[in-house]
Amino acid sequence: MIVADHVTFQYAESSEPALRDISLSIDDGDFVGITGTSGAGKSTLAMALNGIVPHEWKGDFYGSVKIDGMDTVEHQTEDFCRKIGEVFQDIDSQMVASVVEDEILFGLENFGVPHGEIKIRLEKVLEDLGIPDLRKREISSLSGGQKQKVAIAAILALEPRILVLDEPTGELDPESSREIFGLLRKLNEEKGITIVIIEQKIKLLCEYVKRLIVLDKGALAFDGVPGEIISHIETFKTLGINVPPVAELSYLLRQSGVYDGGITLTVQEAEKMVREVLHDPV
Ligand SMILES: Nc1ncnc2c1ncn2[C@@H]1O[C@H](COP(=O)(O)OP(=O)(O)OP(=O)(O)O)[C@@H](O)[C@H]1O
Ligand SMILES: [Mg+2]
Repeated sequence: MIVADHVTFQYAESSEPALRDISLSIDDGDFVGITGTSGAGKSTLAMALNGIVPHEWKGDFYGSVKIDGMDTVEHQTEDFCRKIGEVFQDIDSQMVASVVEDEILFGLENFGVPHGEIKIRLEKVLEDLGIPDLRKREISSLSGGQKQKVAIAAILALEPRILVLDEPTGELDPESSREIFGLLRKLNEEKGITIVIIEQKIKLLCEYVKRLIVLDKGALAFDGVPGEIISHIETFKTLGINVPPVAELSYLLRQSGVYDGGITLTVQEAEKMVREVLHDPV
């Protein structure tokens, strides 16, 4: 469990805080999305959740973050890296090897995983992510989606309980993006791994995450179940975030008085709503 208590952080070279008075807790087994416009503080928050801020990025840090009760300021990042793994926004700078299996082996060897266990973990993680065929491939020859899976595999091989991903689908097409979200859902549901995903693709967030956190200029604007917070459509617009069209449709139908159900987040839900409005149940 991660608990952030009144966290404010200002980078050393900056004139204003990147995070302003953030309090939130992330429970074990949760699937949380963090969104907001560019510069809202998403990456900074992700790095504050595992102690990289303020250990590796210096600045003024107020408040506290505790990972399973351990204060990130009082401990070193190495104390947490077994519990919490992060796939950074720029995966190319995170990757160290040129061949897929070496990338995964690098972390396992560095973490001092016993020799006999290394091969088992390598094969298991490739299997879990559905990429055993990529094992011997050059990373430079992979597609964006495949590369993202390898980056996730390298972190997952270390068996963290919490996985933080910073815009993992930023450079992916809609199909590969959906595939990554599906994979994360599977890891969350089948392995109980806590997922924190930073993402600007609000439509996918609404469909997949259990809880959505919205940042605006470093502060918490919303924190709740997507179906509830998305109903604040006007506020989302003022924050510069376009809610999914299916959500807006249900909002408009509700405003016009022909529909009194909840906000729809998927095309399937919207279809059900339209049939209800048209009295066309088939
Ligand atoms: N190393 C740094 N030094 C000084 N200021 C920084 C640094 N990194 C980020 N910032 C500033 O902190 C604020 C939050 O940045 P952050 O990268 O966390 O936003 P973000 O929501 O992840 O944006 P994006 O969607 O573009 O990735 C911005 O104003 C940014 O300019
Ligand atoms: Mg960012």
